[in-house]
Amino acid sequence: MAGTGPDTRDIDTTRPHPARVYDWFLGGKDNYPVDEELGRRIAAIDGGAPKAARANRAFMRRTTRALAETGIRQFLDIGTGIPTEPNLHQVAQSVAPDARVVYVDNDPIVLAHANALLRGTPEGVTEYVQADARDPRSILEQAAQVLDLDRPVALSLVALLHFVADEDGAHRMVTTLVDALAPGSALVLSTMTADFEPENVRKGIAMYAAGGVTLVARSHAEVGAFFRGLDLLEPGIVPVADWRPEERPADGPVSLYGGVGLVG
Ligand SMILES: C[S@@+](CC[C@H](N)C(=O)[O-])C[C@H]1O[C@@H](n2cnc3c(N)ncnc32)[C@H](O)[C@@H]1O
Repeated sequence: MAGTGPDTRDIDTTRPHPARVYDWFLGGKDNYPVDEELGRRIAAIDGGAPKAARANRAFMRRTTRALAETGIRQFLDIGTGIPTEPNLHQVAQSVAPDARVVYVDNDPIVLAHANALLRGTPEGVTEYVQADARDPRSILEQAAQVLDLDRPVALSLVALLHFVADEDGAHRMVTTLVDALAPGSALVLSTMTADFEPENVRKGIAMYAAGGVTLVARSHAEVGAFFRGLDLLEPGIVPVADWRPEERPADGPVSLYGGVGLVG
């Protein structure tokens, strides 16, 4: 868990990293020229990429709020990203100050900024775990030091799964995590799709691949497979901007599906 200071020597500034490219799309400052360069090249072919990042972040806020309002008090957020206010714990603790939040990411730059994720309410708890999502058992073990896994947990995998290919264990990872959750828990998930803009998404995937980053697009049915056995909340699996929007969604497609499923 976080606590000893960040080791910035682990930050590789010679190749783009997903957390930092996403930070650039969101207008953040915690990225390097190599990330900005990839971000600009992707935005040049797909002007919707920064909009999709913002819509995804708003999806995280709306789903977190909705689940906190239904009474969930524990949150496990894997693939947290570089802090961007409001962060998940701020949304959850604004509804329920006693909410307990465990953040997980494997990128050293997120660890370097983890302090911003640990400033929660005095009544609640926020903790950061440096771990790889492909090792879900280790995540569950560490999360269990903070969360009571016999009680409901909102597990969020928001804009994470497109970095984990099926061959790399994406389904095994989700199943292992969901199987460990108590009834009343929820899976919140968003992930990239090529259903709306296949050509732009294909070019984006190729650009990430050239930078050494795996990116996977999934169809509506493929995203649905992650929710097998869960009860999908309305409106089901939809582009993230269309999941219970609070304002009129921006025009144009958002190439990320999102949904929330409840553990029965
Ligand atoms: C696009 S960002 C999403 C951030 C945040 N969840 C959001 O939606 O605003 C994806 C994050 O997933 C993290 N990530 C990618 N692969 C991972 C893995 N195998 N294990 C843990 N984190 C991973 C990246 O480091 C990055 O911070």
